[in-house]
Amino acid sequence: MEGFRVLGGEILEGQVRLDGAKNAVLPILAASLLPEGETVIRDCPDIRDVHAMAGILKTLGCDCFWRRGVMRIQNSGLKHWEMPDGLSKQIRSSIFLLGPILGRLRRATVTYPGGCEIGLRPIDLHLKGLRALGVQIVDEGGAIYCDGSKMHAGDVYFDYPSVGATENVMMAAALLPGVTTIHNAAREPEIEDLQQFINRMGGRVHGAGTQLIEIEGVQALHGIDYAPIPDRIVAGTLMCAAAVTGGRVEICNVHPWDLIPVMDKLKEMGCRIAEEGEALTVDAPERLRAFSILQTQPHPGFPTDMQAQMLAAACLARGTSVIVENVFENRLSHVADLCRMGADIRVSGRTAVVQGVEALRGQRVTARDLRGGAALVLAGLAAEGETVVENIGLIDRGYARLEEMLSGLGARIQRIQLTTEEHHVSAAFTP
Ligand code: UD1
Repeated sequence: MEGFRVLGGEILEGQVRLDGAKNAVLPILAASLLPEGETVIRDCPDIRDVHAMAGILKTLGCDCFWRRGVMRIQNSGLKHWEMPDGLSKQIRSSIFLLGPILGRLRRATVTYPGGCEIGLRPIDLHLKGLRALGVQIVDEGGAIYCDGSKMHAGDVYFDYPSVGATENVMMAAALLPGVTTIHNAAREPEIEDLQQFINRMGGRVHGAGTQLIEIEGVQALHGIDYAPIPDRIVAGTLMCAAAVTGGRVEICNVHPWDLIPVMDKLKEMGCRIAEEGEALTVDAPERLRAFSILQTQPHPGFPTDMQAQMLAAACLARGTSVIVENVFENRLSHVADLCRMGADIRVSGRTAVVQGVEALRGQRVTARDLRGGAALVLAGLAAEGETVVENIGLIDRGYARLEEMLSGLGARIQRIQLTTEEHHVSAAFTP
């Protein structure tokens, strides 16, 4: 069991270069099943979810080599259509392997996917999308059996713009004769990146970034060398790290356009943000001001993946901030630990009302999901004394060596081994 020990009170300053976005890389790795030949992904983050996805690709018959941020996938051995139980339970993204496996092999089996415990996270929209393409689905005993022998292009309407379901259908349709249309598609930047990846391989996808995506199936795709977009959520987390410590952080390679909602809130809190091309600098005031209301929404609304980090920042701001989590029904699990650190937060349903306090104090806390875990680290950076964050395997799912990135900016944070006994002691305090 590993943890982070954080000594709060340092002002973060410096420059950071981002890796490719986790949420772009995962579907791109899945889509690397589609072409014939080798695919190379650059700036590939060294995170648990990426390695878990590579593990699944290997059990399907692919060769995957990861070295210093470059993943090479050779899929000529692709022959298995059954996703391994253990690995697919580890990451939710295993569900969108259904699309590319069906696209190539016309059949696929997966057990119900895992991922962070941030809500019910059903997969009905994924299955609805695939059924609209003629896939026969049997959902039995925790496994989903898909027969794609009669697959065809089709019209898909999503009742909600699910990111993963949109990506799944894009991949399933890339090699299907005819034109598939997705109505009410998700519009996240990572979906545009997937479109770009498929098109660079020889595909014909149009409209990503809007609510209507058209996929014109092609006969074959070819392998390419590709660098996905930088991680806007890691960028946002570092911007919050600057904000909570009164620091100044420059992120060298970001797409500022994708961070407009986050920048808007940080400006409301008193941060100055300068953009220059792909670089973005956050200069935080000595004390933050509360923001009025932050509501998570599908893109281009405020990203749910930045809610926890902004909530941590709001804990120390002057005044009252309101946060409404609209995307996932169970994504405020960081609140209890923040309160133990001295924060004043009241939760009712999906709404958190945060009354800013003068200071937080170090505590032993536990990460309960990826972004909530990052929020606890941010609180630790700003708190008085020592904070120990347990269960950081969840943070490693989406941040590559977060402690090194933050130390590079002047934070006092280290990765430590926790004995089972220590872990039990702190678990007893956990509400
Ligand atoms: C992706 C991101 C995740 C982010 C989320 C929302 C990846 C790998 N993960 O997750 O980091 O937090 O988008 O921006 O890209 N839903 C259904 N039925 C479905 C699918 C989803 O009801 O079949 C619901 C979910 O329970 C949730 C909402 O739709 O309440 C959004 O989920 P979705 O957009 O699918 O998120 P993911 O693709 O899982």
